[in-house]
Amino acid sequence: MRLPLSLILILTAQCTVYAATHSKRSYDTHHYYVLQHDPQLTSLAEVVDALGVELVEQAGELVNHWLVRSKRFSDVSEARDLESNHVLRTFHELKAREHALRSIPLHSRSTEDHTAHTIARSINHLSLQTLKRRTKRAPPPIRPEDSSRGVALRLGIEDPLFPDQWHLVNDDFPEHMMNCTGVWELGYTGKGVHSSFVDDGLDYNSDDIKDNFDAKNSYDFNDHEDLPTPKLSDDHHGTRCAGQVAAGKNGVCGLGIAYESRVSGVRILSGAITDVDEAAALNYGYQEVDIYSCSWGPPDNGQSMEGPAYLIRKAVVNGINNGRGGKGSIFVFASGNGAGYSDQCNFDGYTNSIYSVTVSAIDYKGLHPYYSEPCAANLVVAYSSGSGKHIVTTDVGKNQCARTHGGTSAAAPNAVGVLALAIEARPDLTWRDIQYLCIETARIVNPDDPDWERIANGHLYSYKYGYGSLDAYAYVTAALNWKLVTPQTWFRTPSVRLGDGAMDAEEGFSGGEFIPRNGIDSKIMVTREMLDTHNFDKLEHINIQVWIDHSKRGDIEVSLTSPNGFESILAAPRSRDSAKTGYPGWTFMSVKHWGENPIGEWTIHVSDQKNHAKHNGSFIGWNMLFWGSTVDPAKATKFELLADNDIWPFPPLDEIEDANPPTPSSTIYAKPTAHLPGDHGEAEGENSSPAFSSTPTQSGVSATPDEGWFPGLSNLVTSQKWFFGAVGAVALFGVGAAVFFWRRRVEQLRRAGYGTVPAEDGMGMRTLSQPVTGTRELYDAFGEVSDEDDEDADEQTGLRPQARRDAHHDGFSDENRGRSAATPYRDEPGSTRPAGSGGPSSPSGSGDGSWEHAP
Ligand SMILES: *[C@@H]1O[C@H](CO)[C@@H](O)[C@H](O)[C@H]1NC(C)=O
Ligand SMILES: *[C@@H]1O[C@H](CO)[C@@H](O)[C@H](O)[C@H]1NC(C)=O
Repeated sequence: MRLPLSLILILTAQCTVYAATHSKRSYDTHHYYVLQHDPQLTSLAEVVDALGVELVEQAGELVNHWLVRSKRFSDVSEARDLESNHVLRTFHELKAREHALRSIPLHSRSTEDHTAHTIARSINHLSLQTLKRRTKRAPPPIRPEDSSRGVALRLGIEDPLFPDQWHLVNDDFPEHMMNCTGVWELGYTGKGVHSSFVDDGLDYNSDDIKDNFDAKNSYDFNDHEDLPTPKLSDDHHGTRCAGQVAAGKNGVCGLGIAYESRVSGVRILSGAITDVDEAAALNYGYQEVDIYSCSWGPPDNGQSMEGPAYLIRKAVVNGINNGRGGKGSIFVFASGNGAGYSDQCNFDGYTNSIYSVTVSAIDYKGLHPYYSEPCAANLVVAYSSGSGKHIVTTDVGKNQCARTHGGTSAAAPNAVGVLALAIEARPDLTWRDIQYLCIETARIVNPDDPDWERIANGHLYSYKYGYGSLDAYAYVTAALNWKLVTPQTWFRTPSVRLGDGAMDAEEGFSGGEFIPRNGIDSKIMVTREMLDTHNFDKLEHINIQVWIDHSKRGDIEVSLTSPNGFESILAAPRSRDSAKTGYPGWTFMSVKHWGENPIGEWTIHVSDQKNHAKHNGSFIGWNMLFWGSTVDPAKATKFELLADNDIWPFPPLDEIEDANPPTPSSTIYAKPTAHLPGDHGEAEGENSSPAFSSTPTQSGVSATPDEGWFPGLSNLVTSQKWFFGAVGAVALFGVGAAVFFWRRRVEQLRRAGYGTVPAEDGMGMRTLSQPVTGTRELYDAFGEVSDEDDEDADEQTGLRPQARRDAHHDGFSDENRGRSAATPYRDEPGSTRPAGSGGPSSPSGSGDGSWEHAP
């Protein structure tokens, strides 16, 4: 079987030639096959000859794979099968003969047999090539008339940055945009709709905004002036957010989603603010204002667990019950930018309120940006920064444009814009219809993302994306035909107490059941009778209030399973949260059971994954509050918030005395951008990891310490170690220094007799503070306020632990204020102001701003 050397050389030369060129195929005249050949056994020439085919070339870059062909004999549809294709038939016969020969000893085989045997063995594979059509995975090409250029021409848009506003028309990923151009073409542009930006000011002198600006419903609660003038160097946040909604079609910068809507600004983020002022801000102009856009909240540092104080919750309920002529103010809240720190929007009492439309972010490619917080209270996502792009909008200045806007801060206004278009189309939508329509019309993005789950109402739900991406066209067209829902009703279950668990008025815990590593289950039964008694038809939101004592809050995982087996993860572990204060009646919220039949046994699972030898705790008790629509609208009553009963001792008293409302205290809010990482626009998003890994207790898998249960974070940590290392070191030093200076400051202020910023009278708060009668079902829908984690900071910095917090439970006690202030607001990294420059507008005496920007 030796080949002449010359033939080998020729074949070798052929190989090179074949590998380098690709001859044109002629499928009409020939059949093509790929042949895998073992050159150790026989020559290619012999094989080709035996099969009666012609050698074409090497098959791509596959060594020893050859493209061969044979002539087609007729144009009848022949030759695909063994019977009629002579090459395949020959191959088959060779193989059959080889098989038969195996039983015949070598010496008794004929030469012919032997050759056939060798040839057959040298062919490892032979396949006929058929033509197939592959479907492109790429998005369908955008039609020229749908490109930003085409839309601009068609609609006469001359705003120079319109082509850069990919969230309006995305030329690269056309399926990823707010999809409002079709709505504009239906004639809806926000006319007659009014949104208010509760933020750090609004530049009403901007050429892009001034025509849509409404001075009457604007106010500055930081400096107590009529107009929300941006004054501090970083007061550009509110203007940028407002531009996303109401930037005019006027040749300046870009375009707002509801570019003919009215916009006002309420300035609260540029200094300290009292509860009474914050409450007034959230009701400011509430008969004319339809939507309050709130891109702020407690710090997104993965440590805090805070909610709105009593007066603020009271104002929100007032807006819901009486705002917009009784249809309810629409509150839109950004979910928060702390996902990189394992923060979750269920630890923020504003974003986990049933009254908020909670909006998370997806980016320019439709991916989940790593900063955007997941939780079971997430309703929808809207577009914002990530995967290399930011949101382009108006900036502070006469003709200034912003190109680096982003975070969930920018996702929320995009949602506000869509809702404004819908309210123009259907001014009668109530605050709950607005939420229903979000659920009904949100578009699924990244369908293969493992975070999606089919839930009881038939929709998909994701902690990262909520019900999906808000699509203006889908939303407004559905709104046009929407049948209004019946009024709201609710019922609260009795509290379940574990092991004589109790919490006194000072939040001291006793009793309870020890939480083992694999957790404790506790059940609450919901009966048909409970529904009937409360005129309860369809389930909407669920609140779950828990009392848990633990020496490291971040170790705890809490999940809820419905009678039908659907699970809501309410709290996933947070590695940075080392608060010792546990959950003193904190309220979680889930929208994941919307539409589900609530009858049956609900199971809560509280577990302590970390099992740190040093840290442990007990489950004290819990209860649930179900919200839904009424069977009989005529019997509906409006929910009212009781006087300050928000932190009940546990078990709750049957009768709550009318407590005096707490003394208003003074608070500085961190804008969500405070924890927005500097690379929020550049970092590539993801669509392949669940927000929370599935309950690990059953499987016995344990999380790696310090990575927690966010698989996405561990990737992040690996890829951006340097970044997190540096941020961590700086943050640790910053917190230490801030706590130290703050303590000193508080001491000084105390000595100087400084108290809280005096509350303004005459803000129409009388209606708010009227005592309301009712049963204990009249319960706050917001998250419970809670302790902060100063002890931990103290631990870390070696400072002396603070004594028990003040007696009133407004959630923003002195310690908390110090902490909130210690997390400086920064829109862009590096935009720090020198220490000591309080800014021209710091209210005299408050001084809180003086050190908060210290590096
Ligand atoms: C966007 O709007 C168009 C109409 O302008 C509509 O046909 C389409 O279904 C909407 N959604 C998407 C994802 O394109
Ligand atoms: C809980 O932690 C405390 C303090 O670290 C420790 O003394 C106690 O033994 C622990 N209890 C259990 C049951 O592990």
